[in-house]
Amino acid sequence: MPSVVNSSLLPESLRDDFPILHQTVHGERPLVFLDSAASSQRPQQVIDAVSRVYEHDYANVHRGIHVLSERSTDAYEAARTKVQKFIGAKYDHECIFTGGTTASINAVARSWGDANIKAGDEILLNPMEHHSNLVPWFQLAERTGAVIKHIPLTDDGRLDLSQLDDVLTEKTKVVAVTHVSNTLGTVNPIAELARRAHAVGAVILVDAAQSAPHLAIDVLALDVDFLAFSGHKMCGPSGIGVLYGKESLLSAMPPFMGGGSMIGNVALDSFTPAGLPSKFEAGTPPIAQAAGLGAAIDYLSEIGLDKVAAHEHALVERAYAGLSEIEGIKILGPSPEHRAGLVSFVLHQPHAHDIAQLVDQRGIAVRAGHHCTQPLHDSLGITASTRASFYLYNTPAEVDALVEAIQEVATMFKPTGRKRRPQ
Ligand code: ALA
Repeated sequence: MPSVVNSSLLPESLRDDFPILHQTVHGERPLVFLDSAASSQRPQQVIDAVSRVYEHDYANVHRGIHVLSERSTDAYEAARTKVQKFIGAKYDHECIFTGGTTASINAVARSWGDANIKAGDEILLNPMEHHSNLVPWFQLAERTGAVIKHIPLTDDGRLDLSQLDDVLTEKTKVVAVTHVSNTLGTVNPIAELARRAHAVGAVILVDAAQSAPHLAIDVLALDVDFLAFSGHKMCGPSGIGVLYGKESLLSAMPPFMGGGSMIGNVALDSFTPAGLPSKFEAGTPPIAQAAGLGAAIDYLSEIGLDKVAAHEHALVERAYAGLSEIEGIKILGPSPEHRAGLVSFVLHQPHAHDIAQLVDQRGIAVRAGHHCTQPLHDSLGITASTRASFYLYNTPAEVDALVEAIQEVATMFKPTGRKRRPQ
């Protein structure tokens, strides 16, 4: 069981659940892991759940009439029910296991997209999207002749809803939007966007890769049509993700992969598909990973997503305040009240990759680059940024270590004002 106290901030003892955090790197530097937006760490409870499947219960699911297959199938389907409850879906068969968020979004663009989009229809995106929520729609537009439109951003990195009516019209068939930007940290107003999308007859797909691990989600309250997220960012294993879709939409969609498990009947030259969710789960699924995801959901639910969100909010406020003091820094995205637990920034000097390398020498793991949001970086006139992302196991002391390290790097590269002598 995770360690929980009745406070909005999580106790440091919770770190005891995460064996990987207890190490030093580069000599005697304690590891400060601030890269959970790329992939989180896992508690022992999740590692044990995955091991248990392989040590005691592993067999293929939905196939064998033997005890191990029955146990594996039970564990796999129990995980689906946990996902259903975690996101507040009406039915567990609305929760499809995929390889991850990218696979989930591609599945919708392929299956729903090819069946519903025609030339001239509009797909509404925005510049803060991850490549995973851009490229599949560009490919759909290439296949169908659909038109890509964007919701503009405000100067502080939020969706500019004052301009929404210009781009969300009866021609719009799908709005694909991230819940939380993986670069800006912006939390987008999903319920409002869903209402506006439905008012013009469009469906809405939400990329929840950066929100499902951190904020409580209720798909019915938000009224979203599709929601995609990954296990590996929420204390679960890699190689598993979820596609939630409303039953009416999923039922009408053709399977996006053919193979075993997804069929009702197969003849020499034809097949009939299985019902939900099997229709979308061709081949041997991620069995142990599902059990691990179920354990991750148990772990997070026991702590409470509200507490996780409050804890991360306190960390991001601290980071924002500390980093803002550094001369020459530019923090990307909105003020803490509009953001989740991550902060990306640039210094005049040095380049983001050098910053990441220098703080790594101090034991601090951050991400540097364009974070798979190249259009966003282009629109900001930068090629790369440095990102620190926080999770339930991070502490205020780790935030302070980050701020101190970035301050040192900024000082090291501070322009001296001296002109270089001509050679
Ligand atoms: N999408 C992940 C990130 O933002 C990999 O780092």
